[in-house]
Amino acid sequence: MQVDGKQGDVKDPSLAEEGQRLIEWAAREMPVVRLIQGEFAAAKPLAGMRVAGCLHVTSETANLALALQAGGAEVSLCASNPLSTQDPVAAALAAAHGVPTYAIKGEDNDTYYAHIHAALDAKPNVTLDDGADLVATLHTQRQDLLGEVAAGTEETTTGVIRLRSMAESGALKYPIIAVNEADTKHLFDNRYGTGQSTIDGITRATNVLWAGKRVVVAGYGWCGRGVAMRARGMGAHVIVTEVDPVRALEAVMDGFMVMPMDDAARVGDIFISVTGGMSAVGRSHFPLMKDGAIVANSGHFNVELDLEALEGLAVERRAVRPFVEQYVLPGGARINVLAEGRLVNLSAAEGHPSSVMDMSFANQALSVEHIAKNGGGLTPGVHSVPAEIDKRVAQLKLAALDVSIDALTPEQARYLAGWEAGT
Ligand code: ADE
Repeated sequence: MQVDGKQGDVKDPSLAEEGQRLIEWAAREMPVVRLIQGEFAAAKPLAGMRVAGCLHVTSETANLALALQAGGAEVSLCASNPLSTQDPVAAALAAAHGVPTYAIKGEDNDTYYAHIHAALDAKPNVTLDDGADLVATLHTQRQDLLGEVAAGTEETTTGVIRLRSMAESGALKYPIIAVNEADTKHLFDNRYGTGQSTIDGITRATNVLWAGKRVVVAGYGWCGRGVAMRARGMGAHVIVTEVDPVRALEAVMDGFMVMPMDDAARVGDIFISVTGGMSAVGRSHFPLMKDGAIVANSGHFNVELDLEALEGLAVERRAVRPFVEQYVLPGGARINVLAEGRLVNLSAAEGHPSSVMDMSFANQALSVEHIAKNGGGLTPGVHSVPAEIDKRVAQLKLAALDVSIDALTPEQARYLAGWEAGT
C-alpha cells in the first residue's frame, strides 16, 4: 500500500504504533548507536546529505536510520531481501519518522527491484547496501545517478565479494567502505548474531528439538562457526562441510565432524547453508536425505540451496506450516524447506539481536560520517573501515557493558614497540 507519493510503500501504515514500540525496544539494547545519535543530533555532521539504504528493514535498521536522520541526512530505505521486512517497523519509519521506506514482507521479485529504484529516486550521495543489489542496480540501470554518489557502505560478506569482483573488472565507479570487514562487525554479528538468530529462526519455524539431532552446517566462515557453535550448545551432533582446507581443518580441531556433503546428506536431520556460494545443497544431495530432513539457508542469497532442482525432483509440494514447505520425492521422502531458502534468521525470526546490530550499525553510522568528512578523498574501490572507528566501537560497547580493561604501562608499550630485547 502506498503511504503517499514520497513516504514509501509499506504493507499497512496503521501498523506504525506497533512498529514504534519495536523500534524503542531495540533501542534499549543499542547504546552505542544511541550515543552516536546524540552526538549527531548536536553536531549535524551529515547535514544536506541524501542517504539511500538497501538493508533488512528491522527495528535495528530503524535505529540506524534515525541516527543518520538526527545527523542531518535525508534517508530513504528499501529492503535488501524480499522476506526480511518487519512490516510494523516499515510503517513507523514511513508514517511517523519521515523516512520514505519501500519494503513489504513477502514482496515478489519485481516489487523488490521496483523498491530499489524508488529508494534510488531520492538521488543519494551515499548508498548503504546489504548484499550489493542497490549498487548493482545503480551501476547497470541507473548510471545517470552515479555522478551524485560520493561513496557507500556494504554490510555483508556476500556484498563485499560482489563489490570486489566489480572493482577488479573496473566496473565499480565509486568508493565503498566494507563495514563487514571491521573486526567489531564480523567477529560479533556474523558469529554470535548469525549463530543465535539462525537457531532462533529454525526453532520458530519448526519447533524442533535440537538435542541429539545431526545438524549439517555448510560453510565454516564466521557465520558457519557461529551456527555450528550454537547448534552444539543446543545438544546437536554437528557436521561441517567445507571446500577450503584451512577452514575445514579448523572445524576438525574445533571438534566437529567434517565430511563431503554427499556423505553428510545421508545422515543429517537439519541442513543449514552459510557458504555465500551457490548450490551448497544441490540436486545430487536431496535424494540422499532421510525422510523428514529440514533444509534451511542463512547465507545472503537463496541460491545456496538448489530449490529449482528440488522442485524438478519432487512429485508433490505443499505448505505445512508458516515458513515450511514440504517437497515429496518419488520414493516418498519428505524434505522440509524453510522460508523458501531465504535467510531463515530474518524470515522466520527477527534477525540478529539488537545488541550485536548495535556494533554493526555503529560502524555504519561512523563510516557515513567518515564519508561526509573525507568522501572526496576516497578513490573508487573497496575500502576498509578506518581502524580508529573499529577501535572506538569496541571501546564504546565495552563502556556500555560496564567492562573496564587494562592499559599498557609506558614500559610495556616501549617493549612492544622495540626489537632490542630478546632472550
Ligand atoms: N542482518 C541480520 N540481522 C539483522 C537485523 N536484526 N537488522 C538488520 N540487518 C540484519
